[in-house]
Amino acid sequence: MFDMKLLQISDTHIYNDPSKKLGGVCTRDSLSAVLTIARKEHEFDLVIVTGDLSMDGSINSYNWLKLQLDSLETPYHVLPGNHDNLINLKDIFGLKVEPYPDLVQFQHWNILLLNTLKKESVHGSLGKRQLALLADYLERGQDRKTAIFMHHPAIEVGSNWLDKINLKEGRDNFIELTEQYHVDLVVAGHVHQESESILNSTSFLTTPSTCAQFKPMSHDFALDDVAPAFRLFDFTKKKSFSSSVIRVD
Ligand SMILES: [Fe+2]
Repeated sequence: MFDMKLLQISDTHIYNDPSKKLGGVCTRDSLSAVLTIARKEHEFDLVIVTGDLSMDGSINSYNWLKLQLDSLETPYHVLPGNHDNLINLKDIFGLKVEPYPDLVQFQHWNILLLNTLKKESVHGSLGKRQLALLADYLERGQDRKTAIFMHHPAIEVGSNWLDKINLKEGRDNFIELTEQYHVDLVVAGHVHQESESILNSTSFLTTPSTCAQFKPMSHDFALDDVAPAFRLFDFTKKKSFSSSVIRVD
């Protein structure tokens, strides 16, 4: 059981080559800057990394990222995105054979981590087994509030090109479960931008990347020139959460 403040970082896109850039941003330098500010200026008890940890799935990229996360000296959990190599990720981070759904418990909250990675696809998928396991967690966790973290957003963010590559297979079943079990919060990455919407009684948030950002409400791929960011959550209260995105200029 942890205390109640959580740092989310997303879409770190670390390359095997330390100097490589995504959208003009050196992903290793950018992550280092983000973690330095997070550590210096904020308090958190747990870190969740919501996918696209690596850009090329390389062992080197995971090893380097693990060193950075270890240096926070705070418990952390990772989950995969479409750019990740699940075998290398599991190997380097020492994960179980079937790591997802994963459950982390705060005093009043269950935090569930899902794997939406579908091999060789950019869009996301939740298969029957993971949905069944998720339903089981939700059934058993009804005495607590619930937040779900995953890479692909389950609802649209308003950018045509990104809304074509969000959660596809299993999406309707997932939304039904969030409604049936009154899931409070679903948090994703993937879209490299901040968004917030409510469906039924569930808040759906997306969080910017620690490197390059995508322009909101774009029909086609477009970079945004806003700074890298992270998101902080406070789950202290019994009945609600608060959250804010912090940019690192
Ligand atoms: Fe990404």
